[in-house]
Amino acid sequence: IIIKTEQQIDAIRKSCQLSADALDHIESFVKIGVSTEEINNEIESFIRKYGAIPAPLGYNGFPKAVCTSLNEVICHGIPSEKTILKDGDILNIDVSTILNGYYGDTCRMFLIGNVSEEAKKLVAVARDCLDIGVTQVKPGNQFCQISKSIQNYANLRGYGVVHQFCGHGVGLKFHEEPYVYHSYDGKNFDERLMKPGMIFTIEPMICVGSPDAKIMEDRWTAVTVDGGLSAQWEHTVLVTDDGVEVLTK
Ligand code: MF3
Ligand code: CO
Ligand code: CO
Repeated sequence: IIIKTEQQIDAIRKSCQLSADALDHIESFVKIGVSTEEINNEIESFIRKYGAIPAPLGYNGFPKAVCTSLNEVICHGIPSEKTILKDGDILNIDVSTILNGYYGDTCRMFLIGNVSEEAKKLVAVARDCLDIGVTQVKPGNQFCQISKSIQNYANLRGYGVVHQFCGHGVGLKFHEEPYVYHSYDGKNFDERLMKPGMIFTIEPMICVGSPDAKIMEDRWTAVTVDGGLSAQWEHTVLVTDDGVEVLTK
Protein backbone atom coordinates (compact mmCIF):
# COMPACT_ATOMS: atom_id res chain seq x y z
CA ILE A 1 0.00 0.00 0.00
CA ILE A 2 1.55 3.26 -1.18
CA ILE A 3 2.36 5.90 1.44
CA LYS A 4 1.92 9.18 -0.41
CA THR A 5 4.43 12.04 -0.06
CA GLU A 6 3.36 15.51 1.07
CA GLN A 7 3.64 16.74 -2.51
CA GLN A 8 1.50 13.86 -3.83
CA ILE A 9 -1.05 14.43 -1.07
CA ASP A 10 -1.39 18.11 -2.04
CA ALA A 11 -1.93 17.17 -5.68
CA ILE A 12 -4.46 14.41 -4.87
CA ARG A 13 -6.28 16.78 -2.50
CA LYS A 14 -6.78 19.23 -5.39
CA SER A 15 -8.16 16.51 -7.69
CA CYS A 16 -10.49 15.27 -4.94
CA GLN A 17 -11.71 18.81 -4.30
CA LEU A 18 -12.52 19.24 -7.98
CA SER A 19 -14.51 15.95 -8.02
CA ALA A 20 -16.52 17.14 -5.04
CA ASP A 21 -17.00 20.60 -6.60
CA ALA A 22 -18.38 18.92 -9.74
CA LEU A 23 -21.04 17.18 -7.61
CA ASP A 24 -21.92 20.51 -5.92
CA HIS A 25 -22.14 22.08 -9.38
CA ILE A 26 -24.46 19.41 -10.83
CA GLU A 27 -26.96 19.57 -7.97
CA SER A 28 -29.17 22.25 -9.55
CA PHE A 29 -29.27 20.38 -12.91
CA VAL A 30 -30.52 17.11 -11.48
CA LYS A 31 -34.30 17.15 -11.84
CA ILE A 32 -37.31 15.52 -13.51
CA GLY A 33 -37.02 15.45 -17.34
CA VAL A 34 -33.22 15.71 -17.53
CA SER A 35 -31.31 12.83 -19.17
CA THR A 36 -28.27 11.19 -17.62
CA GLU A 37 -26.44 12.09 -20.87
CA GLU A 38 -27.00 15.80 -20.14
CA ILE A 39 -25.67 15.31 -16.59
CA ASN A 40 -22.62 13.52 -18.03
CA ASN A 41 -21.94 16.36 -20.46
CA GLU A 42 -22.36 19.11 -17.87
CA ILE A 43 -19.94 17.42 -15.46
CA GLU A 44 -17.43 16.71 -18.23
CA SER A 45 -17.33 20.35 -19.33
CA PHE A 46 -17.10 21.54 -15.70
CA ILE A 47 -14.06 19.42 -14.87
CA ARG A 48 -12.35 20.11 -18.22
CA LYS A 49 -12.80 23.85 -17.59
CA TYR A 50 -10.59 23.37 -14.51
CA GLY A 51 -7.95 21.45 -16.48
CA ALA A 52 -8.93 17.91 -15.46
CA ILE A 53 -9.78 14.77 -17.45
CA PRO A 54 -12.69 12.48 -16.52
CA ALA A 55 -11.07 9.27 -15.24
CA PRO A 56 -13.84 6.86 -16.35
CA LEU A 57 -13.70 7.90 -20.05
CA GLY A 58 -11.97 5.03 -21.88
CA TYR A 59 -11.09 3.28 -18.61
CA ASN A 60 -11.24 -0.43 -19.56
CA GLY A 61 -13.44 0.77 -22.39
CA PHE A 62 -15.99 2.69 -20.28
CA PRO A 63 -17.71 4.97 -22.83
CA LYS A 64 -18.64 8.05 -20.75
CA ALA A 65 -17.19 10.65 -18.36
CA VAL A 66 -19.19 9.75 -15.23
CA CYS A 67 -21.23 6.83 -13.91
CA THR A 68 -24.96 7.42 -13.39
CA SER A 69 -26.70 4.61 -11.52
CA LEU A 70 -30.48 4.80 -11.23
CA ASN A 71 -32.72 2.94 -8.73
CA GLU A 72 -31.88 -0.80 -8.98
CA VAL A 73 -28.52 -0.04 -10.63
CA ILE A 74 -25.82 -0.69 -8.04
CA CYS A 75 -22.94 1.04 -9.86
CA HIS A 76 -21.27 1.70 -13.25
CA GLY A 77 -24.47 2.87 -14.95
CA ILE A 78 -23.74 4.38 -18.38
CA PRO A 79 -25.22 7.84 -19.06
CA SER A 80 -27.69 7.85 -21.95
CA GLU A 81 -29.98 10.33 -23.65
CA LYS A 82 -32.67 7.64 -23.35
CA THR A 83 -32.49 7.62 -19.54
CA ILE A 84 -34.71 10.51 -18.45
CA LEU A 85 -35.10 11.26 -14.73
CA LYS A 86 -38.63 10.86 -13.44
CA ASP A 87 -40.52 11.59 -10.25
CA GLY A 88 -39.50 9.24 -7.42
CA ASP A 89 -36.14 8.13 -8.85
CA ILE A 90 -32.97 7.84 -6.81
CA LEU A 91 -29.78 8.52 -8.76
CA ASN A 92 -26.10 7.97 -7.94
CA ILE A 93 -23.59 10.18 -9.73
CA ASP A 94 -19.96 9.05 -9.46
CA VAL A 95 -17.29 11.58 -10.45
CA SER A 96 -13.60 10.70 -10.81
CA THR A 97 -11.07 13.24 -12.02
CA ILE A 98 -7.46 13.20 -13.21
CA LEU A 99 -5.90 16.58 -12.40
CA ASN A 100 -2.21 17.03 -13.25
CA GLY A 101 -1.98 13.23 -13.31
CA TYR A 102 -3.55 12.70 -9.84
CA TYR A 103 -6.87 10.99 -9.15
CA GLY A 104 -9.89 11.90 -7.03
CA ASP A 105 -13.08 9.82 -6.70
CA THR A 106 -16.43 10.56 -5.03
CA CYS A 107 -20.14 9.83 -5.45
CA ARG A 108 -23.43 10.97 -3.96
CA MET A 109 -27.14 10.15 -4.19
CA PHE A 110 -29.73 12.55 -5.61
CA LEU A 111 -33.48 12.35 -4.92
CA ILE A 112 -35.71 13.19 -7.90
CA GLY A 113 -39.05 14.83 -7.07
CA ASN A 114 -41.17 12.99 -4.51
CA VAL A 115 -39.30 9.92 -3.36
CA SER A 116 -40.90 7.10 -1.34
CA GLU A 117 -40.15 6.80 2.37
CA GLU A 118 -38.56 3.40 1.65
CA ALA A 119 -36.12 4.91 -0.86
CA LYS A 120 -35.34 7.91 1.37
CA LYS A 121 -34.52 5.62 4.25
CA LEU A 122 -32.24 3.47 2.09
CA VAL A 123 -30.35 6.57 0.89
CA ALA A 124 -29.96 7.78 4.50
CA VAL A 125 -28.71 4.41 5.76
CA ALA A 126 -26.21 4.20 2.88
CA ARG A 127 -24.97 7.67 3.86
CA ASP A 128 -24.62 6.56 7.49
CA CYS A 129 -22.66 3.50 6.32
CA LEU A 130 -20.13 5.75 4.59
CA ASP A 131 -19.82 7.98 7.67
CA ILE A 132 -19.38 4.96 9.95
CA GLY A 133 -16.66 3.60 7.67
CA VAL A 134 -14.88 6.98 7.76
CA THR A 135 -14.87 7.00 11.60
CA GLN A 136 -12.84 3.76 11.48
CA VAL A 137 -10.00 5.47 9.62
CA LYS A 138 -6.98 6.16 11.84
CA PRO A 139 -3.39 4.93 12.09
CA GLY A 140 -3.14 1.44 13.59
CA ASN A 141 -6.70 0.39 12.77
CA GLN A 142 -7.22 -2.64 10.52
CA PHE A 143 -8.92 -2.25 7.13
CA CYS A 144 -11.42 -4.95 8.14
CA GLN A 145 -12.74 -2.62 10.87
CA ILE A 146 -14.30 -0.60 8.05
CA SER A 147 -15.94 -3.73 6.61
CA LYS A 148 -17.18 -4.97 10.00
CA SER A 149 -18.70 -1.68 11.11
CA ILE A 150 -20.55 -1.11 7.83
CA GLN A 151 -21.83 -4.69 7.54
CA ASN A 152 -23.05 -4.59 11.13
CA TYR A 153 -24.80 -1.22 10.81
CA ALA A 154 -26.58 -2.16 7.56
CA ASN A 155 -27.63 -5.65 8.66
CA LEU A 156 -29.08 -4.40 11.95
CA ARG A 157 -31.40 -2.22 9.87
CA GLY A 158 -32.35 -5.02 7.47
CA TYR A 159 -30.24 -3.97 4.48
CA GLY A 160 -27.72 -5.92 2.42
CA VAL A 161 -24.15 -4.85 1.66
CA VAL A 162 -22.81 -5.46 -1.86
CA HIS A 163 -19.75 -7.72 -1.80
CA GLN A 164 -18.87 -7.80 -5.52
CA PHE A 165 -17.56 -4.20 -5.62
CA CYS A 166 -15.31 -2.46 -3.13
CA GLY A 167 -13.38 0.67 -2.23
CA HIS A 168 -9.78 1.04 -3.36
CA GLY A 169 -6.52 2.87 -2.99
CA VAL A 170 -6.51 5.91 -5.27
CA GLY A 171 -4.29 8.86 -6.20
CA LEU A 172 -1.44 7.82 -8.47
CA LYS A 173 -3.76 5.43 -10.31
CA PHE A 174 -7.57 5.09 -10.47
CA HIS A 175 -7.57 1.79 -8.57
CA GLU A 176 -4.66 0.69 -6.36
CA GLU A 177 -4.11 -1.43 -3.26
CA PRO A 178 -5.76 -1.75 -0.80
CA TYR A 179 -9.13 -3.06 -1.97
CA VAL A 180 -11.48 -2.00 0.83
CA TYR A 181 -14.39 -4.34 1.48
CA HIS A 182 -17.64 -3.00 2.91
CA SER A 183 -19.00 -6.45 3.73
CA TYR A 184 -17.62 -8.83 6.34
CA ASP A 185 -18.12 -12.59 6.47
CA GLY A 186 -15.68 -13.41 9.29
CA LYS A 187 -13.60 -15.60 6.94
CA ASN A 188 -11.76 -13.43 4.44
CA PHE A 189 -10.74 -10.10 5.86
CA ASP A 190 -7.93 -7.59 5.60
CA GLU A 191 -5.93 -7.41 8.82
CA ARG A 192 -3.46 -4.87 7.45
CA LEU A 193 -3.07 -1.66 9.42
CA MET A 194 -3.78 1.87 8.24
CA LYS A 195 -0.79 4.19 8.22
CA PRO A 196 -0.45 7.97 7.78
CA GLY A 197 -0.17 8.91 4.10
CA MET A 198 -2.41 6.12 2.78
CA ILE A 199 -5.24 7.33 0.53
CA PHE A 200 -8.22 5.19 -0.41
CA THR A 201 -11.96 5.30 -1.04
CA ILE A 202 -14.85 4.04 1.05
CA GLU A 203 -17.94 3.54 -1.13
CA PRO A 204 -20.53 1.16 0.35
CA MET A 205 -23.37 -0.02 -1.90
CA ILE A 206 -26.45 -0.83 0.21
CA CYS A 207 -29.55 -2.72 -0.99
CA VAL A 208 -33.14 -3.12 0.15
CA GLY A 209 -33.20 -6.83 -0.73
CA SER A 210 -30.48 -9.12 -2.00
CA PRO A 211 -27.03 -7.51 -2.34
CA ASP A 212 -26.13 -9.83 -5.22
CA ALA A 213 -25.22 -8.05 -8.44
CA LYS A 214 -25.46 -9.06 -12.08
CA ILE A 215 -23.89 -7.29 -15.04
CA MET A 216 -26.07 -6.23 -17.96
CA GLU A 217 -25.51 -6.85 -21.68
CA ASP A 218 -23.52 -3.60 -21.98
CA ARG A 219 -20.83 -5.26 -19.80
CA TRP A 220 -20.83 -2.38 -17.26
CA THR A 221 -24.20 -1.70 -15.64
CA ALA A 222 -24.41 -3.66 -12.37
CA VAL A 223 -27.97 -4.21 -11.12
CA THR A 224 -29.46 -6.02 -8.14
CA VAL A 225 -30.49 -9.59 -9.08
CA ASP A 226 -33.92 -9.09 -7.46
CA GLY A 227 -34.54 -5.61 -8.91
CA GLY A 228 -34.51 -4.01 -5.44
CA LEU A 229 -33.26 -0.47 -4.88
CA SER A 230 -29.57 0.19 -4.23
CA ALA A 231 -27.79 3.30 -2.92
CA GLN A 232 -24.12 4.35 -2.68
CA TRP A 233 -22.02 7.22 -1.31
CA GLU A 234 -18.26 7.54 -1.75
CA HIS A 235 -15.44 9.59 -0.26
CA THR A 236 -11.70 9.56 -0.85
CA VAL A 237 -9.93 9.69 2.54
CA LEU A 238 -6.38 10.29 3.78
CA VAL A 239 -5.00 8.62 6.91
CA THR A 240 -3.42 11.44 8.95
CA ASP A 241 -1.10 11.25 11.98
CA ASP A 242 -4.05 11.28 14.34
CA GLY A 243 -7.07 10.18 12.29
CA VAL A 244 -8.62 10.97 8.95
CA GLU A 245 -9.00 13.78 6.45
CA VAL A 246 -11.93 13.47 4.05
CA LEU A 247 -10.52 14.77 0.77
CA THR A 248 -13.81 14.90 -1.18
CA LYS A 249 -15.89 17.06 1.23
N1 MF3 B 1 -15.73 5.67 -9.85
C1 MF3 B 1 -15.88 4.24 -9.75
C2 MF3 B 1 -15.30 3.85 -8.41
O1 MF3 B 1 -15.73 4.38 -7.46
C3 MF3 B 1 -15.17 3.51 -10.83
C4 MF3 B 1 -15.83 3.63 -12.11
S1 MF3 B 1 -14.98 2.66 -13.24
C5 MF3 B 1 -15.72 3.12 -14.65
O2 MF3 B 1 -14.39 3.11 -8.26
F1 MF3 B 1 -15.00 2.69 -15.59
F2 MF3 B 1 -16.93 2.66 -14.65
F3 MF3 B 1 -15.77 4.42 -14.68
CO1 CO C 1 -14.07 4.52 -6.18
CO1 CO D 1 -16.26 6.40 -7.72
